[in-house]
Amino acid sequence: MALRQDVEAIKERVDLVSVVSRYVTLTKSGSGQKGRCPFHKDDTPSFTVSGEKGLWHCFGCGEGGDVFAFLMKIEKLSFVEAAQRLADEAGVSLTSRREDGERDKLRAVVAAAAEHYAANLANTGQGARARAYLESRGFEEAAWKRYGLGYALPGWDNVKREFGARFGAENLLLAGLLVEGEKGSYDRFRDRTMFPIYDLSGRPIAFGGRAFDGEPKYLNSSTTPLFDKSRHLYGLHWARDAMREAGHAVLVEGYTDVLTLHEAGIRNAVGSMGTSLTQGQADLLGRFVQEVVIAYDRDAAGGAGAVRGMQILRNSGLAVRVAKFAADEDPDSLVRKFGGDSMRDAVRDAVPFHHFYLESLVAKHDPATAAGKEQILAQATEFYRGVRSLPLQQEIARGVGDLLGLPRERVAHVLATRPLQRAPGAGEEGVGGAQWRAEDDLLTMLLRGDVEWARIAAVASPADFTPAHRPIFEALANAPESHNISAWVVERLREQGLEEQAGVASSYVFAEVEFADLDRALEEKLDQAVRLPALERKMANVARALRTADAAGDRAAVDRLTLEQHGLTLEKSSLSKKRDARRGMHGRDEGEAQGEITSEAG
Ligand code: CTP
Ligand code: MN
Repeated sequence: MALRQDVEAIKERVDLVSVVSRYVTLTKSGSGQKGRCPFHKDDTPSFTVSGEKGLWHCFGCGEGGDVFAFLMKIEKLSFVEAAQRLADEAGVSLTSRREDGERDKLRAVVAAAAEHYAANLANTGQGARARAYLESRGFEEAAWKRYGLGYALPGWDNVKREFGARFGAENLLLAGLLVEGEKGSYDRFRDRTMFPIYDLSGRPIAFGGRAFDGEPKYLNSSTTPLFDKSRHLYGLHWARDAMREAGHAVLVEGYTDVLTLHEAGIRNAVGSMGTSLTQGQADLLGRFVQEVVIAYDRDAAGGAGAVRGMQILRNSGLAVRVAKFAADEDPDSLVRKFGGDSMRDAVRDAVPFHHFYLESLVAKHDPATAAGKEQILAQATEFYRGVRSLPLQQEIARGVGDLLGLPRERVAHVLATRPLQRAPGAGEEGVGGAQWRAEDDLLTMLLRGDVEWARIAAVASPADFTPAHRPIFEALANAPESHNISAWVVERLREQGLEEQAGVASSYVFAEVEFADLDRALEEKLDQAVRLPALERKMANVARALRTADAAGDRAAVDRLTLEQHGLTLEKSSLSKKRDARRGMHGRDEGEAQGEITSEAG
């Protein structure tokens, strides 16, 4: 939870007007700004923003609040997520911690409960069924100990009675062990085999409890100050060293999958606790590995989860492959039936994520029918736009073309230009955004040797590039004058441990994109990737300074800044005029396309 100081620091540094302006066209009105409300159908501009007060309000629908409320509402974020975004933007690091004392107390509560559950499993008559169950699944006593497994007794108040006096019902509730009911609180976990969930230091912070037969099959601790399912991975602290060593993680769904893989010596396995991997979990993986092999269940949920999961993992900058094994198995059942090597083989032979995606499309839609083709094209479009690298995009376009028996270059054009069914979440700089794609093309031109380094270096510097591309441009900037700059760059990125970027850089060298008019394309890409974003940053700075000067009543500064603003506006409109001139007869979308893909001979 963000602390009050964090919130204040963010508010001080983030300018509400510039945040709102990303979504709403504002015009000056009195001491504030006015525009059409993004939260209801608003014909008269009834949405007002006061940068000075840091507040917004809509007189039409009555919504209002501060910059946090705005971002939460428009992007559908939780408070913490909104705070995190704004903190990043403002360069504030969130303290993000409760009182340490409180957390220590909750950790003690969870640790005591874990011991209690473990003792129930080992020593009680009622624990016999759980013991037999675990053994039937291949987990012997040594494994119970190793992973801290336990058993929650039947009955509504075992934990409450055992620990109520020692910790207080309030703390048991906070730790997620009790549930608040109409007639008071009662034990959350009853008659379940218990899998403690550990933090990175190996301290138990939460539980997953499996029913013998009832529903739900698995019950997890609620979100607590210690545990948030969307930010933890099951088994991470057992897997972290092996993950680092291997350079990749094996991502599975379930508790039993993780344990069985670890028992089989596949120690880089971690569990997402279901198929809905979150960005927080993906970022967490990104701290330890560069590649993730998804090994979800071979059923419908697992397949769909793998497709979603790989996009989330790619967003965190991870390379992704998908392991394929017999239908209807999960890693646990696979290893039990066929041994650990069958899983090792599946991991070794895992396919790159875009292959898996194309296969999943064919499984869902019949590429022999026109309707099926349409469906496949529509879905592939979203996928294509979400992919960062141009060479990968090309591979997808080729794959879809071949799949549908349609000309690859036409398919590439459609994938690049057709309107998305829903708006892409990413902004210009985001995955597949205009700036991003322009950078892709610039780097391709440089690494293939289409254009002289000096022509791009005169306009761009590493800071202009989005983070994923920046190291590649930096390496280019450092490259010695020699005949094989591209090989040097790839090598350099490898040395820096930037495997993904090294892979991307090397594939640029072989990219098949062709620019019909290289000079025109170069200017266009420089505009999109460098000149326009730089101009927009300047404009935002001037606008901010202008508001400050205005509020301070500094007339001279206001005049100077207004002039400057005017100049920047002119510059920007001349950029777009130049672009329109370059595009000539072509429509907007056409200009967005990134060159044509040449069909391969043979
Ligand atoms: N899960 C959950 N809640 C459920 C079902 C599943 O949280 N109601 C999570 C659990 O982390 C579980 C994982 O999703 O381990 C995978 O679900 P499933 O494939 O049903 O679990 P398995 O571990 O294969 O279950 P089993 O004990 O039957 O092998
Ligand atoms: Mn399963």
